[in-house]
Amino acid sequence: MNPKYEQAEQILNKYNQQHALKFYDNLESTKKEELLNQILSIDFEQLKNLYDNINKIEHKQSEITPIEYTDKSKMTQDEKKYYLEKGSNVIKQNKYAVVTMAGGQGTRLGHSGPKGTFMLGLNPDKSLFEIFCDKLKKIKKQYGVIIPWYIMTSKENNKETVNFFEKNNYFNYSKEAIKFFIQEEIPMIDKQGKVILTEHGLIKQAANGHGGIFESMFKNGIVDDMKKKNIEWIFIGPVDNPLVQMTDELMLGLAIDKKAMAVGKSIVKSNPEEKVGVFCKKNNNPSVVEYTEITKEMAEMKDKNGELLYGESHINCNLFSIRAIEKIGAEQLPYHTAFKKAVYMNEDGKVIKPEEPNCYKFETFIFDGFEKLDNMQILRGIREEEFAPVKNKEGVDSPETARKLYKSYYNC
Ligand code: UD1
Repeated sequence: MNPKYEQAEQILNKYNQQHALKFYDNLESTKKEELLNQILSIDFEQLKNLYDNINKIEHKQSEITPIEYTDKSKMTQDEKKYYLEKGSNVIKQNKYAVVTMAGGQGTRLGHSGPKGTFMLGLNPDKSLFEIFCDKLKKIKKQYGVIIPWYIMTSKENNKETVNFFEKNNYFNYSKEAIKFFIQEEIPMIDKQGKVILTEHGLIKQAANGHGGIFESMFKNGIVDDMKKKNIEWIFIGPVDNPLVQMTDELMLGLAIDKKAMAVGKSIVKSNPEEKVGVFCKKNNNPSVVEYTEITKEMAEMKDKNGELLYGESHINCNLFSIRAIEKIGAEQLPYHTAFKKAVYMNEDGKVIKPEEPNCYKFETFIFDGFEKLDNMQILRGIREEEFAPVKNKEGVDSPETARKLYKSYYNC
């Protein structure tokens, strides 16, 4: 008997997940190996704890208060000059790197590939990845430095992403400067806490949310690579915003001047209902209240100037010192649970496409790491210069709105 199989069987018995091996004999040999590797690497204890806590009410109350910020548009010319100099020195000294969170697919946009391969509809047309490359190439021209670019993909889209860059010759940026790393996954479980199976008889797993970026950066040697290169500051940004500023010297300058471990970029929330998380303090620590969690009352509160009290939108554009990455990465971030629809194979070997949500998905969020930081600054940027999200196929935050914003900013 295969010792790996026996070990897997023992684990499944312990956690009452025996069904995961039910179709083992029907699998071809590579899939058999894959399934056993899955079982040996999954943290079933963690999964059990997550399941046990799903319906427990969280009693830990946190006190939420507004957070202070620095407003870019209100900086004097002298302040700007001061921050700019400090910030640009970091870039010139090769102490700066960019990480793009590109684990997502373009499904919501009706695009079948990785989100970064989505063509924005420009003339000549460009993918989101090419748009980011253009920005890095501009910096290369300006400062004469090649900024290392790390791209976090997922198991689902890694191969396609790498092929896309290969096919396009890395958009004439430096191939050596671009490194891909794959984010971790966590199994989805059904209402009974059982792992579900894919149509190929493997355990169904999903990306563990962008908060997993810290763990993945450690596991994949990215932090070590950065240290080897003497990188001190890391910008982590999303793939779904063509106006993302890959470098912001003022943000870097502010971080250094204020001796901050991180700086979060905000923009003013356009209205209380806008689907963005907002920066705040939770029990006096920097944090974000997600749009799904904010009460109507809180969302509508105004300050003495008539501005939204919780109006500093989190746009997933954050700058971290390497120390901050190490500090956040040292501990597991909390998992958030969502009840979702997922296709699965039932115990009779039939593939089921559910009409209703049928299983739990677990995700960590990058901003849950903020509260571990001693000093985090918020820099309010300008919406038209930094935020053109591409989220939905049509309407708000769609390719059409993003394209318009992009064209107007770049005057093209
Ligand atoms: C997110 C933020 C919200 C913010 C808004 C701004 C969260 C939970 N919420 O919402 O506070 O105001 O963007 O547009 O983040 N990603 C991965 N791997 C994952 C999950 C996501 O790489 O496992 C990447 C996506 O490719 C994307 C980014 O993270 O680049 C944002 O993720 P998404 O799930 O689209 O967040 P939103 O719900 O839009």
